[in-house]
Amino acid sequence: MSQGLDLTTAYLGLTLRSPIVASAGPYTGDPLTVERLEAAGVGAAVLPSLFEEEIVHEEVELNRALEAGTEHFGEALDYFPATPRLETSTDKYVSLIERTKAAVSIPIVASLNGTSTGGWVRYARLLEAAGADAIELNLYRVTADPDRTGSEIEDDDVSLVASVRAAISIPLAVKLSPYYTSTANFARRLVNAGAAGLVLFNRFYQPDVDVETLDVVPRIDLSQSWELRLPLRWIAILRSVFGPSTSLAATSGVHTGDDVIKALLVGADVAMMTSAVLRNGPHHVLGVTDRLCSWLVEHEYESVAQLRGSVSQSASPDPSAFERANYVKTLHSWATPVSP
Ligand SMILES: Cc1cc2nc3c(=O)[nH]c(=O)nc-3n(C[C@H](O)[C@H](O)[C@H](O)COP(=O)(O)O)c2cc1C
Repeated sequence: MSQGLDLTTAYLGLTLRSPIVASAGPYTGDPLTVERLEAAGVGAAVLPSLFEEEIVHEEVELNRALEAGTEHFGEALDYFPATPRLETSTDKYVSLIERTKAAVSIPIVASLNGTSTGGWVRYARLLEAAGADAIELNLYRVTADPDRTGSEIEDDDVSLVASVRAAISIPLAVKLSPYYTSTANFARRLVNAGAAGLVLFNRFYQPDVDVETLDVVPRIDLSQSWELRLPLRWIAILRSVFGPSTSLAATSGVHTGDDVIKALLVGADVAMMTSAVLRNGPHHVLGVTDRLCSWLVEHEYESVAQLRGSVSQSASPDPSAFERANYVKTLHSWATPVSP
């Protein structure tokens, strides 16, 4: 149900038919699923990330395979084994972009998960050449080196973004973590370096410990709606920092139509979903879109553009609600007595 309503939104300079976007996850790695998501109404899809570590690992393994035996025979130094052309992660990713673009007409965002500058410029160019409509650069890192300062790491990330920006002509979004001392400052530096949009926020996966085997085990839990509150706060604040030409995407905790409405109200241009689709399947998007539409009708809005940002920090009657001033009020709002 979207008759008479204008759900279009601008994201990274692209016009999307809906503000509901499928964010990166295993399911967007299958063009058939992206087709189903398109049929269910998403405005765009972000492919799962191409990871630098995987590419580097493959290159090391390939070199090892090609060099095997060369230390034993002099003539082997001139010998290049007739290995079949191996399909690398990059080849597979390029093929994924091409197949997905051929299957759907919504914009397709390719995602790079990088740590070093040189490689990313090369891969970003490849993904652009394969037909991606935009690139999302995921700055997911856990810096454990006590000799590295926050400023050094931020400087590296800003120059990584500037290098990728200079290398491609399609729009660039940056997906970042919420863990910066001055999130608004870093966000502005990223935008000044050429990010057309920010995706807020990466959800960090914490390893767990198995008390029987004493192994450190990877643990991935799908999100819950309450996790949206962190992106909501920062999108409300950042919407007031940036003009409408900087796109803001909410990710983490978008499950329901009401979650999408909240994200738009605080100023997001799009609301992204992964966990909800993994849990419920692509058709979940239909119900979310229905709720968005019925809410718009009930509240007498004709378009997504009309409601976007109505509750951002600058539009809010109580701008302090998004900052520390609300901390004490929040703590004092706890009303439940201690159980006996
Ligand atoms: C199984 C799984 C795989 C994911 N893979 C990626 C990925 O490759 N690249 C990326 O940027 N985010 C990835 N994400 C993160 C999602 O894109 C999303 O930002 C995060 O799950 C928060 O959104 P949600 O609450 O809608 O799940 C993944 C999430 C899950 C659950």
